[in-house]
Amino acid sequence: MDHFQYCDGQLYCEKIPVAELAAKYGTPLFIYSEATLLHHLKEIQSAFAAVNPVICYSVKSNGNLSIAKLMVDHGAGCDVTSGGELYRALKAGTPGNRIVFAGVGKSDDEMRMALEAGVLLFDVESEAELHVLGEVAKSIGKVAPVALRVNPALPPKTHVKTDTSVKGTKFGFDIDTVLEVAQGVVGHPGLSVVGLHMHLGSPILSSQPYSEGSAKAIVLIDALRKQGHPIEYLNMGGGFGIHYRKQEALPAKAFADVILPAVHQTGCRLVLEPGRFIVGNAGVLISRVVFTKESGGKRFIIQDAGMNDLIRPTLYDSFHRIWPVQPQAGLPTPPIDFESEIPDTFAQDVVGPVCESGDFLAKDRRLPLLKRGDLICTFSAGAYGMSMASNYNARVRAAEVLVTGDTARLIRRRETFDDLIAPEVDCLS
Ligand code: LLP
Repeated sequence: MDHFQYCDGQLYCEKIPVAELAAKYGTPLFIYSEATLLHHLKEIQSAFAAVNPVICYSVKSNGNLSIAKLMVDHGAGCDVTSGGELYRALKAGTPGNRIVFAGVGKSDDEMRMALEAGVLLFDVESEAELHVLGEVAKSIGKVAPVALRVNPALPPKTHVKTDTSVKGTKFGFDIDTVLEVAQGVVGHPGLSVVGLHMHLGSPILSSQPYSEGSAKAIVLIDALRKQGHPIEYLNMGGGFGIHYRKQEALPAKAFADVILPAVHQTGCRLVLEPGRFIVGNAGVLISRVVFTKESGGKRFIIQDAGMNDLIRPTLYDSFHRIWPVQPQAGLPTPPIDFESEIPDTFAQDVVGPVCESGDFLAKDRRLPLLKRGDLICTFSAGAYGMSMASNYNARVRAAEVLVTGDTARLIRRRETFDDLIAPEVDCLS
C-alpha cells in the first residue's frame, strides 16, 4: 500500500501532483508520503501488538531527521549502526532507552557515546568487541547492556551482499561458539548480557528464515539463562521485504505469526529493527529526461538522477519500477505488471549522467518513448536511496520533500557547489 497514485493522467503523492513538486523543488528529488510511512509503522505495531514490542526504526534505511522524528513521535525507537546514526537518533529526540546499537566495528568513542546516551542494547558481534565494551564501560563507571548477535547459519535468503545470516559473513557470533564466549563473561563487572540479537538479512520475502531463526533463538536463550545471564530481550532485527516489482512482499502479520511463539515461549521483550518495510515504499525518486539516444542497437533514456542518487540497481542489480510522471494518453498507469508485454513500450536503458557504465536505474526496461524534459518516477526509493547517496562526480545530493495530505515540506535542501567543498582545506593558497 502506498499513497503514490495516478489520477487524471498524472502521478500524485497524497493530494499533490508530483509534477508540481518537481517544478518547485527541481530534480532529482526524493518525495516521501507521510501517510505511507505511518501506515507501515502502524502495520508492524499492530501485527506485534500482543507482545508490546520495542520497534526501533533502522536509521540506516533513511536517516533524515524529519523522518526519524516522525517515527519517534509515533512510538518508535531507533536502530543505529554508527556514532553518526546515534547522533541523528538523539537529535530526532529518541530516548536512549529506545535505541539499539549494532555494527561489527564500533569504536571506543562510539561505545562511550552510546553508554552516555543510555542505549537499551549494544548488539555485540564478536568476542573482541565484548571485552573492549566491558573495559570501556568499566572505565566510565557503567555497565553495558548487551545483546549477543548470533549468526544462525541459515541457507541463503536474499542478495549475497545483504545476506547476514549465512555461515561465513562478518556479522555476529558463530552459533556454535557463542555459548562458550558467553560463559566467559558471566559476572563481568562492565557487561550485562540481557539479550539475543539476530538480524537475518535484507530484504527477505519469506517468513521461513524468521521461523528457523526464532527456533534457534529459543534454544540459545534457554542455554544463556542456564549460564546465569538474565536474558530479557529477543531482538529479531529488521529485513522485512517490500514490493519492488509487484505485490511480492508479505504483510507484517506473516512475520509476527512465526516470531511471536518464540516471544511467548521465552517471555522476552521483543525488539525489532525495521527500516525498509516502513520507508521503502513511502518514497520515490523523481528525475527529468535530459536526452534520449540510440546507440549500438540500444535505446537510452538519459535522465538527471544517477548512481550517486540511487545506487541500488548498480550495486545489487535491484529492480525498481519506473514510469513517466505524466504518461501520454492511451498508456496504462500503474499498477502495471512490468514483467509482461506493455503496449507502446520499447526496451530501453534508463541511465544517469555519471561517468560509469554501471550508472543505470534500469536495463532493457519496457518504457514508452520519452522526450527531453519529461519527468519519470522511480518507485520504492525511500529506503537506501538518499542514505546511500554520494557526491561522486561532484554531483550535489538531491533535495527531499515530505508530503502530508495537501502540504509539502522541504526536509533537506538540495546541496550547493559550496557544500561540496565546504570541508576541504585549501592548504596551497
Ligand atoms: N538491523 C540491522 C542490524 C541491519 O543491519 C539492518 C540492515 C536492519 C536492521 C534494517 O534492515 P531493513 O529492515 O531495512 O531491511 N543497502 C541494502 C540494504 C542493506 C541492509 C543493511 N542492514 C539495500 O539497499 O538493499
